[in-house]
Amino acid sequence: MRIPIIAGNWKMNKTIKEGVELVNKIKDITNDTDVEVAVCVPYISLNEIKKTIGDSNLKLGAQNMHWEDNGAYTGEVSPPMLKEIGINYVIIGHSERRQYYNETDETVNKKIKSALKYGINPIVCVGETLEQRETGKAKEVVKKQIENAFDDISSDNMKKIVIAYEPIWAIGTGKTASSEEANDMISYVREIIKGKYGEEISEEVRLQYGGSVKPNNVTEIMNQTDIDGALVGGASLKAEDFIELVKF
Ligand code: PGA
Repeated sequence: MRIPIIAGNWKMNKTIKEGVELVNKIKDITNDTDVEVAVCVPYISLNEIKKTIGDSNLKLGAQNMHWEDNGAYTGEVSPPMLKEIGINYVIIGHSERRQYYNETDETVNKKIKSALKYGINPIVCVGETLEQRETGKAKEVVKKQIENAFDDISSDNMKKIVIAYEPIWAIGTGKTASSEEANDMISYVREIIKGKYGEEISEEVRLQYGGSVKPNNVTEIMNQTDIDGALVGGASLKAEDFIELVKF
């Protein structure tokens, strides 16, 4: 049985104070649900939010990291720094990082390996552009992203990874992939994992959908056979909305 996982991706939103306020409003939801709930917050808020979470079951994630342990990389944050805070997850390869910060399949692969080495579970994002979808290339693109991201990743490690399928054209646009479209791609991702790691692992790996998930579409999305969760941007910034998502 795969445990559903709803993760908020705050992106570049919320000051430390605002983040603490939001977490204080949402953290108790974890007492009344079997769903795993996480918030992925800006680096500077991680420490304070970790304290705010206290002994609630809310999980904490970062939105990126470098793959090296340390060094002359001005402005970057390393896996040991994140490990010391005690985070559970790190988003790797979000389309905004691929688009604006030259993240490639190769750096995604390095970051995944490095996160796993430090016991931080990666949430790995894949997804096609509108043009790629309209020209019938969506599956080819996602397959390549998956193959490159998981190059040289062991079966044991694969189980710890969450994959988020986020069609780029649905992120922050209010356009969602229809739940059937989302499920179709996510089932395909599970097939790829099955081809590489076998049935048992493919049935264990959790696959999220991301892209304009809101309280009014979450139930339909979560009812799909292969969708185990959601990675949520906009709707994770308001306590009431996020709580509704968790109660899908
Ligand atoms: P959105 O963002 O929910 O605002 O579309 C999702 C994401 O980018 O993870």
